[in-house]
Amino acid sequence: MDQRVTGELRLLRGSAADLPSLQPFWVAVHHQHIESMPHLAPYVADTTTWAYRAIRYRELLNKTRTILLLAEVAGRRVGYGLAHIHKSGDTWVADTWVTGPTIGEIESVSVLPDYRNQGIGTHLLDRLEQELADAGATDLILGTLPGNAAAIRMYERRGFQSTWLYMSRFAGRPESRNR
Ligand SMILES: CC(C)(COP(=O)(O)OP(=O)(O)OC[C@H]1O[C@@H](n2cnc3c(N)ncnc32)[C@H](O)[C@@H]1OP(=O)(O)O)[C@@H](O)C(=O)NCCC(=O)NCCS
Repeated sequence: MDQRVTGELRLLRGSAADLPSLQPFWVAVHHQHIESMPHLAPYVADTTTWAYRAIRYRELLNKTRTILLLAEVAGRRVGYGLAHIHKSGDTWVADTWVTGPTIGEIESVSVLPDYRNQGIGTHLLDRLEQELADAGATDLILGTLPGNAAAIRMYERRGFQSTWLYMSRFAGRPESRNR
């Protein structure tokens, strides 16, 4: 990692009070999704993606077993990571794979475009995984778009591998009906 950024990087614990400030970071994830799989357009608007995501995050941030990390460089918020812990039996894993009693889910990781490729995403994941492990969760899951190559490389470097794959056929969309 770039030493200049390492020296200035701080990872702070966040809370439900930080939810509104996460909007641009989640929208950066949405833009990454659009860029990485343009053939799946149309995508929802930035305001729509955040409206749905904020509901999900609020629900998570009101639970005790949720970890929000905020990355700051020289006092500027540049990214975040969010993870939470499930009982294994509450997940899609339980009917297929043997695991421990809890499963940590990496819900989101995002670094602003100007701050990528400097190790910040890796630091966020290192800390999230450490905090999940400290809470007893070392079986981990996360979801990613199959076209998000940069994210997949990062997860694979850390030992994640593909398990469950969703497939979709969006035949009810307005432009599909017009074809
Ligand atoms: C995925 C994401 C979080 C990675 O964050 P990041 O801070 O760029 O991650 P890192 O810097 O740790 O690693 C990214 C790359 O930089 C490289 N890198 C790390 N430190 C570096 C340094 N000091 N100098 C040069 N390169 C470096 C890594 O080897 C890695 O290389 P690769 O892309 O060729 O595999 C970021 O791209 C992002 O926010 N994307 C949009 C949102 C998103 O897709 N999130 C995941 C949703 S599932």
